[in-house]
Amino acid sequence: MKVMSLGYLRVESPEAKEWATFGPEVLGLATSEDPLGRPNVVSLSNDDRPGRLTITEGPANRMTAVGWELPNSEELERAADELASAGVEVRRATDSERAAAQVRDLISFTDPAGFHHELFYGQLTLPGTFRPGRAMSGFVTGGQGLGHIVLVVPDLAASLDFFRGVLGFRVSDEIDMMGGRVVFFHVNPRHHSLAILGIPGMRGLHHLMLQVGDIDEVGVAHDLCADRGIPLAMTLGRHTNDRMFSFYVRTPSGFEVEYGWGADTVDDENEWVVTHMVSPSIWGHKPGAAGPPGCLEPVAASSPEWDS
Ligand SMILES: [Fe+2]
Repeated sequence: MKVMSLGYLRVESPEAKEWATFGPEVLGLATSEDPLGRPNVVSLSNDDRPGRLTITEGPANRMTAVGWELPNSEELERAADELASAGVEVRRATDSERAAAQVRDLISFTDPAGFHHELFYGQLTLPGTFRPGRAMSGFVTGGQGLGHIVLVVPDLAASLDFFRGVLGFRVSDEIDMMGGRVVFFHVNPRHHSLAILGIPGMRGLHHLMLQVGDIDEVGVAHDLCADRGIPLAMTLGRHTNDRMFSFYVRTPSGFEVEYGWGADTVDDENEWVVTHMVSPSIWGHKPGAAGPPGCLEPVAASSPEWDS
């Protein structure tokens, strides 16, 4: 399956409206109109593809969709066939789902942890229109996509098999931490577009990483969090595996945003060697004032959607 990048992310949150200021003023994201004109949706982006991150007002803090980009309609059809052969129930999109996602076409399915994924092609692109919400030099996107996400999954082995075996994601490396194991996957030169952390009985979106093009942007965002009293989830630090220089801020919706710069990329042309590490950071990334993540939900040992 030819997944090219992380295309978009949708979350639901009671605090959706706070993103109308947090997104542009703190993170520097651009805002755009919701394509369906829904008043309870905040539509944000870090480049010239509008709606890469949308937050819809709703009762719980939860991730409602991850969108993965495929290169064209032929690959979308091939992906649908491959999912069906693997015993995964594939759902075709309605016109309003295509319009909401601003893509030509998409299919959706549920992963072993119960997360809703969409595979799409033909995302709306408006070249030259990106206007960050505050003065800044911009984000690293393009072929590397929106950024990366880290998901907490109840059964690491099942999710690992699924992302590697069914979706064809390639393992970058692993880190042993918090008594468990985090596995990092790449689908393009970005060191990881997805990582999964196994915590029995729990699932949720741990964080979304947004990468800026200039180290000073990390400092400016760090200052803005301090000035506005927005608690950090983790202090400044540098990761061991992708060498990202970053801090983590707790968003209004429970999950965290890792705001980073300077990550290494993966070169699949010259054979990539998988390693494992025993610490996520060379220095820093100490717990901040935000407290434990507010985005995890308990889940039954086996997901009913997956069993069916
Ligand atoms: Fe990260």
